[in-house]
Amino acid sequence: MPQVMSDNIESHLVENRIFNPPAEFSAKATIGSMEAYRELYDSSIADPEAFWAGIAAELSWQKKWDTVLEWNCPFAKWFVGGEVNVSENCVDRHLAKRGDKVAILWEGEPGDKRTLTYRQLYEETCKFANALKANGIKAGDRVIIYMPMVPEAAIAMLGCARIGAVHSVVFGGFSAESIKDRLHDSGAVAVITADGGWRRGSIVPLKESVNKALEGDTQVQRVITLKRTANDVTMVDGRDVWWHDEVAKVDSNCPPQAFDSEHPLFILYTSGSTGKPKGILHTSGGYLTGAYATSKYVFDLRDDDIYWCAADVGWITGHSYIVYGPLANGATVLMYEGAPNHPGLDRFWQIIEEYKVTILYTAPTAIRAFIKWGDEHVEKYDLSSLRLLGTVGEPINPEAWMWYHEKIGSGKCPIVDTWWQTETGGIMITPLPGATPTKPGTATLPFFGIDAAVVDEQGEEVRANEGGKLVIRKPWPSMLRTIYGDEQRYIDTYWKEYGNMYLAGDGARRDELGYFWIVGRLDDVLNVSGHRLGTAEVERALVSHHSVAEAAVVGRPDEIKGQGVVAFVTLKEGFESTDALNKELRAHVGEMIGAIAKPDEIRFAAALPKTRSGKIMRRLLKEICAGGAVSGDTTTLEDFNVIAALQGKGDDE
Ligand code: WT7
Repeated sequence: MPQVMSDNIESHLVENRIFNPPAEFSAKATIGSMEAYRELYDSSIADPEAFWAGIAAELSWQKKWDTVLEWNCPFAKWFVGGEVNVSENCVDRHLAKRGDKVAILWEGEPGDKRTLTYRQLYEETCKFANALKANGIKAGDRVIIYMPMVPEAAIAMLGCARIGAVHSVVFGGFSAESIKDRLHDSGAVAVITADGGWRRGSIVPLKESVNKALEGDTQVQRVITLKRTANDVTMVDGRDVWWHDEVAKVDSNCPPQAFDSEHPLFILYTSGSTGKPKGILHTSGGYLTGAYATSKYVFDLRDDDIYWCAADVGWITGHSYIVYGPLANGATVLMYEGAPNHPGLDRFWQIIEEYKVTILYTAPTAIRAFIKWGDEHVEKYDLSSLRLLGTVGEPINPEAWMWYHEKIGSGKCPIVDTWWQTETGGIMITPLPGATPTKPGTATLPFFGIDAAVVDEQGEEVRANEGGKLVIRKPWPSMLRTIYGDEQRYIDTYWKEYGNMYLAGDGARRDELGYFWIVGRLDDVLNVSGHRLGTAEVERALVSHHSVAEAAVVGRPDEIKGQGVVAFVTLKEGFESTDALNKELRAHVGEMIGAIAKPDEIRFAAALPKTRSGKIMRRLLKEICAGGAVSGDTTTLEDFNVIAALQGKGDDE
């Protein structure tokens, strides 16, 4: 790495480095050269249906499909007429050959450990599925899962899948209010939770949040609670039961029911550009095929791998790359409950040494935190078991990429920078570790069957190194089917702009090698620590506080989180901009959404900059936050004094 140079020059030099896959890696890889990639990619794009049908045929179908794809843009049906059970593919399918192989290696935050073989996972899944049935839960019912990172989170998902119940996992860091929103939107009839989970040495009181979310509720018939932390919890008679009691009443005989390939598998909420999160709907056969194929090729899974995806099951990464993808491949998955800095800043590296992890998949924000914490925490450990590294969630800055490559991968592990979204269900743009030469900061090339492009306003592909909008031009099996309960929003958000191409919402360019460089979101969505957060959602939370008249939320660059949240707030008559109120508002956002959405800074203002038609000019606020001068067109600004005041001390009252 160059020593002291300006940021620009340094990133310029780093960007031009190319890292070829190590010959030793390529020799053993499923796709071992660019020629092999190109050949399969070209044929997969010439005939995507044939490619995906070939992949789907590697899975177990109770009835084979009649038609691979029915495409009535923007509505896709994959493997039409086929019948499949997703949980059967993730567990039963492996029993004959891998019954005694470890499926889940689990490490609790306090250091407690568990191991489940595929046979044990099968039995637990069957028992839990029977317990769901015994509690009146049926195919098609929606079930909220609000769990810590324990094996039962995966068992709950697989149990739902086994009986055709549609799960909606809510991240354990979200608040009671967030559970409530998702409950109502999905119409869920049951909740699966735990008494608590461990996070940074404390108990996260999950059951308490569920109780709060259910106050006055009549929709939820059953709450099944796992005992994890043994803290006191309130159980409501007639509604709440314990996981261990319920599974003790049933046996482990639960034949996998056959479901239509398009039977809904899950709903996962993600932020959009309005205040209301979108329920992204994924279905069975296509989603499974996508998660399976991408896990197999992108992580180049081998039978002896110890694979660790350090995401939470509450995000799509946890769905596709902790549970469905790797288990469909019969892999050994490591699952860790807690925080990367508990009890020490070396927790990840200690786990990798102890379990001899071979594949690590994490987020740029985590990597930047590790860099900040210092190399000494890494250097104490033997990380030589690692053979492959991955990242996801946001563009990775070349400095973080180089550190990951050198410090964690000892310069010998390929890095797969994977671009995808909750909506895409699986990885879309990514290097293949045995084939693709990588450059720090780019997700490189599309996966098989994925027709990605960068286009201009007219939908025409732009030239090399010109910026544009990232689109996908052909349907793919793991694509979202709709936004639950809001088909119009599905059409408007993803398809209205071009009519026949999926609009990802990201800006991008392709370089002279055709590699995709993702620039970031084009809508009012922030990327905080690799997680999507709608500015409108935070604004909605702020104005729900009795003191707030108006709020505008923007992102600003943040060294660790990628983007930080800044809120500009005007108060109602009679309220004063005190430190106490500032704290109270941050806590309020935490209660309305979750800790992840708490503004890093709240700036009180007498007024917000608006256009003459009354639209808040967020661009100006962003420029103020970034510390720069306000530039560009301000001719529509209603009152220039507002800007002057905001630039003053940041707190003009
Ligand atoms: C948005 C999707 C996919 C699981 C995690 C996030 C950004 C994701 C990358 C990457 C650049 C990336 C995009 C995308 N993003 N991966 N490798 N390089 N940007 O899922 O919450 O649905 O967010 O994350 O902006 O649109 P999500």
